[in-house]
Amino acid sequence: MGVLDHLLEANRAWAERTVRERPGFFDQLATGQHPKYLWIGCADSRVPASRIIGLGPGELFEHRNIANQMIHSDLSALSVLEYAVKVLHVEHVIVCGHHGCGGVAAAMADEPVGIVDNWLRHIRDVQRKYDVHELDPLCELNVIEQVSNVGRTTIVEQAWRDGRSLTLHGWVYDLKTGRIKDLGASVDRRDRLEAIIEAAATRIGA
Ligand code: CO
Repeated sequence: MGVLDHLLEANRAWAERTVRERPGFFDQLATGQHPKYLWIGCADSRVPASRIIGLGPGELFEHRNIANQMIHSDLSALSVLEYAVKVLHVEHVIVCGHHGCGGVAAAMADEPVGIVDNWLRHIRDVQRKYDVHELDPLCELNVIEQVSNVGRTTIVEQAWRDGRSLTLHGWVYDLKTGRIKDLGASVDRRDRLEAIIEAAATRIGA
C-alpha cells in the first residue's frame, strides 16, 4: 500500500470511465496532439488551466510558472513557445494570471523568500514601471506585460512576419468567482502590439 494509492485509484477510475464514455479516445490521442491554444499561466493549484475553460486532454498546450511570466532568457518558456508556434501551429497564446497571486504579492513585499525573489524581480520592474501599489491591479498589469513579452519574442515576431495567424490574449482569473476576465490585450500583429498593450494598461487604471 502506498501513501498515494488514492491518486492512482482515481486515475484508474478516470481512465476506465473515459474509455467507457468515449471508446478509442486514448488510441486517438496517442497518435499525436493538435491543440489550438497555448496557455501561459501561474503554477497556483487553484487555477487548473484546461479545467476552468472546459478543455480536455489534447486541447491545451500549457506552460505554468510562478506568476505566469514570459522572461526573454527563460529557455524553458521559450522552448514551449517555440514548439507550440512552430510545430503545433497553435492559433492562440493565452497569458492568464489571477487575482490574489502569491507570486505577485511576494514581489510587492519586502520579506525575502529565497531563490524565487530573483524570479519575482521582473514583477517589481512592472510595479515600478506603472507605480502601482495594489495587488490585483498589479496582477493584471503583469499579465499585460507578459503578453507584450510574448509578442516581442523572436518566435512570435517571426511567425507574424511569415503571415501566420497567431493571436495573443491577456486574461485574469478571479479566484473568488471562478470567472475569467479578458483584459482587452488581444493582438495579432507586431505593429499594433505597443498600442494595444498601452491601451489595456491604461484601462486597468494604473
Ligand atoms: Co499566482
